[in-house]
Formats: sequence, structure tokens, C-alpha cells
Amino acid sequence: MLTTAKARGLADLPPVQSDSLLQLIALCNADQRAEKIDVGVGVFRDGQGRTPILQVMKQAEAILRETQESKAYLGSAGDKRFAELLRPIVLGEHADDERIAGLQTPGGCGALRLGFELIATANPRARVLVGAPTWPNHPPIINAVRLEIAEYPYYEKGQGSIRFESMMHGLSSAQAGDVALLHGCCHNPTGADLDEAQWREVARVVCERRLIPFIDIAYQGFGRGLEEDGVGVRMMLAACEEVIVAQSCDKNFSCYRDRVGSLFVKTGSAEATATAMAHVSQRAREMWSMPPDHGAACARIILDDAQLHADWLVELAAMRDRINAVRQRLASADPRLAFIGRQFGMFSMLPLAKEQVLKLREDEAIYMADSGRFNVVGMSDAQIDRFTTCVVAALDG
Ligand SMILES: Cc1ncc(COP(=O)(O)O)c(C=O)c1O
Repeated sequence: MLTTAKARGLADLPPVQSDSLLQLIALCNADQRAEKIDVGVGVFRDGQGRTPILQVMKQAEAILRETQESKAYLGSAGDKRFAELLRPIVLGEHADDERIAGLQTPGGCGALRLGFELIATANPRARVLVGAPTWPNHPPIINAVRLEIAEYPYYEKGQGSIRFESMMHGLSSAQAGDVALLHGCCHNPTGADLDEAQWREVARVVCERRLIPFIDIAYQGFGRGLEEDGVGVRMMLAACEEVIVAQSCDKNFSCYRDRVGSLFVKTGSAEATATAMAHVSQRAREMWSMPPDHGAACARIILDDAQLHADWLVELAAMRDRINAVRQRLASADPRLAFIGRQFGMFSMLPLAKEQVLKLREDEAIYMADSGRFNVVGMSDAQIDRFTTCVVAALDG
């Protein structure tokens, strides 16, 4: 049928509000000042300000190069042995539970997207409760599957602490079938993690309200320890019949661009889980067909070899030790920064207004997110004193 409406082409596309963190990285890269401090980026840096490839990863890559006989397709679940080897790390004492199945995904983002695709397939009317604040990429991923988002209070920026009572109140008012998005450890953007007693309370309410806990665990091993950081996931698995876990190896194997992650799904029976995973595979097939192999194959080689596995734990501990050492150094610089020493993972949020953050950027070439979120190991050891001096001056100002 003929229509008089003007055909819409690619030239008619509206402009896109680009990701604020990607914008920040571009701004920082363009800054020519030698003294600039980049604490906006979300990668681990060592004392010299580098993000080195782990020694064990180099060894695994060499082994892969020597031993890989084929690059034929693996299927939409990716490297099955990789997902199997992650089970004890992520699921702990639930590793042998047949109601839990997992598969390889392209990083934590791929796992998040796939997990929300599954929710949207099962129940398009489910709401997703996200903490305020949360990682800025959570809402776009949830919006992409057209699920409604509701917020629960999580963090009091001025106090540097969790708004636990308000959080519990928010979760208590959710409907059965709604999804509670929780950060497994090393909360991004605040660094404020639930303690064990709080996890227990959250598990009780989530279970009572018949919500589905969806745990995003992207930094396991960067906080208290590999085992300790898994406590929340395990408590949820113990308390709830249906649980989703989106996991990333990109940080704890320091292989960010290789896109290594996994998704685990628990339902009430092995049969229902098999059906859920068939849907998951179908969604994966539609989006990326199969996850990239290289990084997951290397992680699999590391986890499958007792010596490499042990060496990885040592390198992971070294990253964690630097994070915690820098936290203590920042915390001791001023009583108003003491909260940083009680938090975990790479991120923390300074009690600064956006204007103060922009002034630090302009006057001091210190780049952090507008919210005051900064990466405690974004700076080298040599930059710590100047960073604290400038931040304390901003707090005074
Ligand atoms: C909270 C959180 N979840 C998930 C991810 C995604 O990680 P990946 O790079 O593996 O996709 C990130 C990465 O920054 C994150 O901070």
C-alpha cells in the first residue's frame, strides 16, 4: 500500500547519550597534563599504575597455543569444563546441586543480559529491584529486555554506609516474582558490602516475599578473599528455590578484553533447570551464538591444573592486598575518609558534589565519575599523596 509518510532511514536516528563512564575515559585520555590521575576507569592497576597480564594467564596462553588442536564451534554454552570448574568457586557447598546449571558467557555483561532475558521470557511483568546507586550499566541492560525497574535505597553517600533498614523496607514491599538485583561482593559504585548477618536478613526477606535473587558477582576475590566473597551467593542458594548468578572472570583473571564470564541458574528441580537452560541457550544463540573461547579456555587451563590454580590464587591475593593497602592509606589520611578502610573492592564514593568533582578534574587533572565514585587502585603508589591532599582540600572547601 502506498503511504505518504516519509520513509525513515539511518540518517533519521536520534543522537545517543553515550555511557558516562566511557565519556570520562575519553576526556581523561585527551588530557595532556603529566600529573593527571585516572581513577574513573574500572580496571585494577598495580603500584606502578599498570594493568599487567597475570603470569598464570601467560602460561595458560602458551599451553593453549601448544595443545589446542581445533577451533571448531563449541556451541552456545561455550567451554563446558570452564563452567564446571567455576562451580566450587562460585557456588561453594552448592556445587553439586543438580538444580543448578551454568554456562559460559561473554563476560559478566553477557551473563547479566542472558539472566534478564531468561526472567523476561518467564515473566515479562516481573519488576527488577535495583539498589540506589548501582552500577550504571545495570539499568540499560535491564531496559534492553523491557523489564520494569524499581529502586530500593542502598547507600548513604554522606555517611559512607549502607541504608540497611531502608533497603529491607524496599525489598519487603516487592511482589512475589519480582527480581532483587544484588551485588555479590565489592559493590560497584560504593564499595559498601553487606556483612554476613545482613546477607542472612536479606535472604530471609527475599525468600519470604518469594522474590528471585539475581546476584551479580564481578569481583570475587577482590574483597575479603575468594571464599569469603562468595558468602552472599551461597546464602541465597541455601535460602531460595530460584536464584540467578551472573559471574565475571574478567577482573579476577585480569583478562578484561577477553570477555570471560558465566551464568548460573537454580530452579526447584533438575528438570525445570534443564528447561530454563534450553531457553538460555536459545537466547544466547540469538544474540552472540557462542561466547568467545580464548579467555575461558585459558581460565579453564589454570583452574584444571593444581599448580597453576595455586599460582592464580597467589596473584589474585596480590591484587587484593594492593586494593586493601591503598584503602588503608586513604582512610588514614583524614577522619572523613575513614569509611574507605571499612569497604571492599576497587570502588568507593567520595562525599563530593558534582561541582567539586568537576573542579578536581579541571584544576587538578583528577578524573573520577560525577557521582564521586573512584577506583582506589586507579592511581599508582606515587600518586596517592597528591590524590589525598586534593580530595581533603575539596572536602574542606
Ligand atoms: C558490578 C559489575 N557487574 C558486571 C560487570 C561486567 O563485567 P564484564 O567486564 O565481565 O562484562 C562489571 C564491570 O565493570 C561490574 O562493575
